[in-house]
Amino acid sequence: MRRYHALVVAGLVLAGGIEAGSVGTARSMGDLPPEAPPTAKPEAKPAEVKPRIIQQRASKATPEGRGDFQVYPDGKKLQIRYKGGPFGGVAKADLSPWRTYDYANKTPEPPVPEAVKMPADLKGDPAKGRKLFMDRERAPCTGCHLIPGEDVWPAGNIGPDLSTYGDLNRPESYTYEIIYDARKYFPDTAMPPWGTTGLFKPEEIVHLVAFLHSLKGPLSPEKDPNRNPNTRAKPVGFGDNLDPTNNPAVLLMDDAKDFWGKKGPKGKSCADCHTADPEKSMRGVAPKYPKYLAKYQRVMSIEDFLSRHAPETTGMEMLVESQENLNMSILLKYASNGLRVQVDTMSPEARAAYERGKAGFFKRVGQRNHACADCHTPDKGGGKFLGGRLLVIASEGSTKHFPTWRTNFGVVWDIRKRMQWCMDPLGMHMLPADAVEYAELELYLTAFDNGKPLSVPGIRH
Ligand code: HEC
Ligand code: HEC
Ligand code: HEC
Repeated sequence: MRRYHALVVAGLVLAGGIEAGSVGTARSMGDLPPEAPPTAKPEAKPAEVKPRIIQQRASKATPEGRGDFQVYPDGKKLQIRYKGGPFGGVAKADLSPWRTYDYANKTPEPPVPEAVKMPADLKGDPAKGRKLFMDRERAPCTGCHLIPGEDVWPAGNIGPDLSTYGDLNRPESYTYEIIYDARKYFPDTAMPPWGTTGLFKPEEIVHLVAFLHSLKGPLSPEKDPNRNPNTRAKPVGFGDNLDPTNNPAVLLMDDAKDFWGKKGPKGKSCADCHTADPEKSMRGVAPKYPKYLAKYQRVMSIEDFLSRHAPETTGMEMLVESQENLNMSILLKYASNGLRVQVDTMSPEARAAYERGKAGFFKRVGQRNHACADCHTPDKGGGKFLGGRLLVIASEGSTKHFPTWRTNFGVVWDIRKRMQWCMDPLGMHMLPADAVEYAELELYLTAFDNGKPLSVPGIRH
């Protein structure tokens, strides 16, 4: 591990000894040097093709948290993601053509096509359309729309209930256009432009149209109120988040307390400079994060700060997304539990960062052309269901319980990992966990929690 870190600091990444790729300062995926034209012989088996590994920018996150790229000889880039939880190790698709949050990425939103015409020579098949509508690997359309059927689980309600769509007698050409790219009629829609971004092919959209026009009332009575997202019970709490028998993350603080007293290669421990009792000496620190730190010329969360401060003062690494960093962040925030969040958004640097974070929240990115706002504002998805997930409303506060125990994965996530996972429904490569873009988004989100008491570690399903 240590050798790996040293190489990262030196600006070099070695991937399993295959090949070294050079690493510059922050640069977008869009500005990477053009790849050589495809040279692979047609008979070459894919298993023999060894990718080069490149790092998207300088970072103090763990290798997994950095989101390095495997670059294949034909130019294809696949992002390396966390092995654990839902991330799946390596991304399935190369998402580099799509717009990202990277401040250096100037890719525009895909333009709304001038005219979309339903192909007249194709005949839609409602049964095929239903299968596509339900396909969990694709949209799924049921993530946002209810349709009839006991197998429809779990449906969401960000979009209108389409259970009797056929009765609306809309022209088929309109339905085709809406699915292809709804922005023509709803410029600010939360529905991805399925046709424009190539997520569904024209003939598939024709099947979807045939299916939707086949949906006619009257509906048979609902057997299970939970099937319908409009009558489904909303989840209630997760019990006492500070009770260690309920929230295993509470116990992780013991490791952080041990670390606190440990001397690093520089001969110092945290305790040497900050007294032996972190709960006392650090009380009042966490509610001010993320904050602008002049020394580093950027906004940082506690996690970001530790990744720089620990090696500078003790000589020990504390990479963002490492267990040491998560444990220490929990301890530092726990020390301020009950105190009210008070992040600065008024100093000129903080204000500018807040505004950039806010712009990011509303920026549409990725193959799905989604913005955070699509799922986390009340006029769109916030407070509604995306599939079985009740979406948080950002303006009600969504940060003061992070890092948070994830009951379904049995691990702790800090807010950056949560954001990185939100890149998945966006159809976007994740940025490194310590990216300044995420820090400024986090500042924007945390400002909504100002005045509310910290309660860390949280617990969520
Ligand atoms: C992220 C949520 C989301 C997903 C996923 C989604 N939609 Fe939508 N859809 C919406 C919203 C929201 C609207 C309403 C238009 C608006 O106000 O933006 C809508 C509208 C529609 C309409 C028009 C309804 C009407 O009454 O005019 C159709 C048809 C439709 N969607 C079909 C689909 C199909 C087919 C899929 C899957 C390929 C799909 N939707 C996936 C959010 C979504
Ligand atoms: C050599 C002394 C020294 C050591 C060792 C040290 N720190 Fe610090 N720490 C400081 C000083 C000085 C500051 C304030 C100035 C700064 O931000 O660099 C500080 C600031 C901090 C802050 C931010 C306080 C605020 O109000 O924003 C945190 C959190 C922190 N240290 C945690 C730690 C942890 C955790 C360790 C052990 C991994 C550690 N420190 C080790 C000297 C030290
Ligand atoms: C297509 C929908 C979608 C988009 C777009 C999306 N998220 Fe999420 N987000 C979710 C889901 C699902 C959850 C889990 C349910 C919940 O807590 O809201 C979630 C949870 C979160 C949470 C945790 C809330 C909590 O209380 O634990 C944060 C913070 C968050 N998202 C931030 C973002 C940010 C920032 C963006 C934009 C970069 C974003 N999300 C984009 C679907 C989305």
